[in-house]
Amino acid sequence: MTRTMSALILVLAAGVLTAAATGRRDDADRLIAARQAGMKLAGADFGGMKAVIDAKGDVKTQAFAAGAIAGWGRALAGLYPAGSDGGATKALPTVWSDRAGFEKAAAALDTEATKLATLAKAGDQTGFAAQWLVVRNTCSACHDAYRAPDKPKG
Ligand code: HEC
Repeated sequence: MTRTMSALILVLAAGVLTAAATGRRDDADRLIAARQAGMKLAGADFGGMKAVIDAKGDVKTQAFAAGAIAGWGRALAGLYPAGSDGGATKALPTVWSDRAGFEKAAAALDTEATKLATLAKAGDQTGFAAQWLVVRNTCSACHDAYRAPDKPKG
């Protein structure tokens, strides 16, 4: 093999590696956008429930939204594969270093939001309001351990 050929091969190999790294960053950025959008949708659903509770509205109307949050609890951990850190994510490194704890926190959201959906279907206003607080605690318990705190405003 000539020297020129070896040099060319090295240059090509470097190009392939750079393309692979760029592809991984793009993939990670898409996952980050998906999980942030999913969290915002869960937040919108969840805030809407509070409005229904405060207005003493019919909680049966919230069964679908509660079921959606339970499904989010089942799905969300899959949007955090290894290598999807960095970029615009607010996920803390603990998501990957304490994987079991993170998965448990996501499973808790599934469990508690499933109960919330059951209470909604039954039209149990008082039970629904109490369980809403339990679900809110599962949101914050995970955020406390696995999400960077918001920067203070101003
Ligand atoms: C298993 C852990 C976990 C649970 C449970 C959880 N979150 Fe999150 N949440 C996160 C992480 C991690 C992020 C940061 C995501 C990122 O930036 O990649 C986040 C981000 C968010 C954001 C900000 C999204 C953005 O655009 O920056 C909102 C809003 C949010 N969560 C709402 C909720 C609500 C409401 C619940 C409960 C119904 C909930 N979360 C439950 C881990 C969780």
